[in-house]
Amino acid sequence: MIHAVPSPRAEVLHTPRVVHGAIDYAELRRWGLHQDDIIDFSVNSNPYGPAPAVREAIARAALDRYPDRDCLVLRELLAARYAVALERIVVGNGSAELIWLLGVAFIRPGDQALILTPTFGEYARSVALMGGEVIALPAADVGAFTFSPETITEALDKIQPRLCFICNPNNPTGQVLPRDLLARWAEAHPHTLFVVDEAYIQFVPGMISTMSLDYANVLVLRSLTKDYALAGLRLGYAVGNRQVVDAIARVRPPWNVNAFALAAGQAALTATDYLQATLGMLRQARDSFLAGLHRHGLEAVPSKTHFFLVRVGDGAAFRQRLLRSGILVRDAASFGLPAYVRLSTHRPEENQRFLDSL
Ligand SMILES: Cc1ncc(COP(=O)(O)O)c(C=O)c1O
Repeated sequence: MIHAVPSPRAEVLHTPRVVHGAIDYAELRRWGLHQDDIIDFSVNSNPYGPAPAVREAIARAALDRYPDRDCLVLRELLAARYAVALERIVVGNGSAELIWLLGVAFIRPGDQALILTPTFGEYARSVALMGGEVIALPAADVGAFTFSPETITEALDKIQPRLCFICNPNNPTGQVLPRDLLARWAEAHPHTLFVVDEAYIQFVPGMISTMSLDYANVLVLRSLTKDYALAGLRLGYAVGNRQVVDAIARVRPPWNVNAFALAAGQAALTATDYLQATLGMLRQARDSFLAGLHRHGLEAVPSKTHFFLVRVGDGAAFRQRLLRSGILVRDAASFGLPAYVRLSTHRPEENQRFLDSL
């Protein structure tokens, strides 16, 4: 009998666990709740759901054939939309996969990566898993969660990181860094790869993508799981320099994007009227939701997006209380903010249910 268990790489054991929003199915079972009883304010997806054409496209997708490994049709649609060459686009099983692949492709043991916090947890995990060192730069002003550009400039000058992750707009704060600042940093640091995660850009009216900078050391990440409401399917892409994109494509698992996600993505990208209509309704719902929260004595941290942090005292206890009435919020403790929860705007009737349950 052999009792020794082969141990994993040390980095695996030191990689932080990351908490995310969305339903914890084991927790629901413990509480005797069903997913259909829950209104999920803890995820930041478009609450109006995908366009009807998306469901039709999924129904037609081939279940018994391998999907296109190179995601050709979807990439062609994106290439035309952004007027970039096909070779500059890589598609992932959600943008979370692309964040992981960036670590695999670019982080050598000991490499440093700069991350502006609080932010999405997977950047740090991807770096740590490959033996890189995460340097977290916290927002100067806890309360508004803004950064002074000088602080970021100083950190970049001092660290000269291999990667710098910038979530823009940022999850969970909803803050936006202006594109000309990103341009200035990218120009000053040609050896740093700036990964600009624009998962939520379409929720900010008029925000201009960093993609238009067209710098070799800037890679833009996009997700279709938020604005197009395809979280269950998993779909995201990256647009950047050919060599950077090629490096990510080389380390992708084969057939990383399934046939349903491809079909859905193609249909979703084409249904532009639906997207604009739902994002417009969501913007209105957001303003009334914020006003309703204010009437209940809850003040949201100013945010450019449809989600925002709210200071509630004890975020975990607040979450537990609301969960019993079928309302799920994101306790922000894992962002280092135990006094806050993150709320995402829903449809007006759902927002009203939230306010009623307060
Ligand atoms: C900022 C940010 N980037 C990326 C992701 C991952 O999104 P997906 O893998 O669903 O595309 C999330 C999910 O919450 C996120 O908040």
